[in-house]
Amino acid sequence: MKIKKLIIRQPDDMHVHFRSGLMLQNVVPFTAHIFGRAVAMGNLPVPITTLETARAYRKEIKDISPKSFNPIMSAMMTKDITPEKIRKLHKAGVKVLKLIPASTSTNSSEGIALNELRNYLPVLETVKKAGMIFSIHAELIHNPKTGKEIPEIQREEMAIPFLGHLVSKASGLKIVVEHASTRKIIEFVKKAPWNVAATLTTHHALVNYGDVFDSQGRILNPFLYCKPVAKTADDQEAVIEVMTSDNPKFFFGSDSAPHLIWKKNSDEPPAGIFTAPVVLSLLCKIFEREKKLERLENFVSRFGAEFYGLPLNKGKITLERGEWLVPEEFEGVKIFKGEEILQWQVV
Ligand code: DOR
Ligand code: ZN
Ligand code: ZN
Repeated sequence: MKIKKLIIRQPDDMHVHFRSGLMLQNVVPFTAHIFGRAVAMGNLPVPITTLETARAYRKEIKDISPKSFNPIMSAMMTKDITPEKIRKLHKAGVKVLKLIPASTSTNSSEGIALNELRNYLPVLETVKKAGMIFSIHAELIHNPKTGKEIPEIQREEMAIPFLGHLVSKASGLKIVVEHASTRKIIEFVKKAPWNVAATLTTHHALVNYGDVFDSQGRILNPFLYCKPVAKTADDQEAVIEVMTSDNPKFFFGSDSAPHLIWKKNSDEPPAGIFTAPVVLSLLCKIFEREKKLERLENFVSRFGAEFYGLPLNKGKITLERGEWLVPEEFEGVKIFKGEEILQWQVV
């Protein structure tokens, strides 16, 4: 018999992009009305790097959210970061230091490169002592030996040696490998010590390289183009396997990343998929298909909070089986799985 209703502890989204201004006002409600908390990534056009900008950004999010919603604030790791700045950010309530290396993705131009991380060990030591999280977009853009640009599909696995080095040098630092998208990096995280975990997105469980690119490597569908790019069918399978495996090192971070349709339709579409309106429905579908629906709650509501050292949310949410048509777009942003009929709904 098929389950009709699922009640779970209120979930957290450990990785989301809200942007700012009008876009923020449009997208925040999709997250804030369902999730208890969400890690708000600070890769704005002017990245969040100071306590003043972090506070102002938190207020901007809080102002349009229900009281029950608590954004978890991040600051971006750029060249001018110092231990002193980390201490100030921590005092201002910032929980996450986020690294998006330069050229890897949207608004990342100031991010330090993976091969420069070794010069920032005192900063990372301060992050550890403050009980903060080091969140990393693990992609290597240039081969340090040849200087050549690395093809997008190889960038994540090429980052693994740098992660290995980081893990050995910064022992005990809580590291989140964001949006793990290859079997190799998932294996790396599984074998790494307790202080290394990973977020998983819904889109990396549902999309593979062939859905996004043609045989020449040109972007076929800009609305499925994200960073890290979707990988092979085997990598996709690895994401699904570990997502439904009840392994506390792997938890939910949607990486929902809205971009306007007209920008997506340009010659150089920005990377990012707006998934916030459909993530829970899609997770139900994935977990149900794998006959692991009873593990969904740990993945979305427990493991992330536990790794971050936060209390579990007290509230509950209800998911009901029932068909609904996903709108194609919202305020100029295409919704992932738009115009498709999904089977689960948050009520
Ligand atoms: O696809 C992505 N979009 N990946 C990221 O790492 C950043 C994000 C964005 O901000 O658009
Ligand atoms: Zn990222
Ligand atoms: Zn992201």
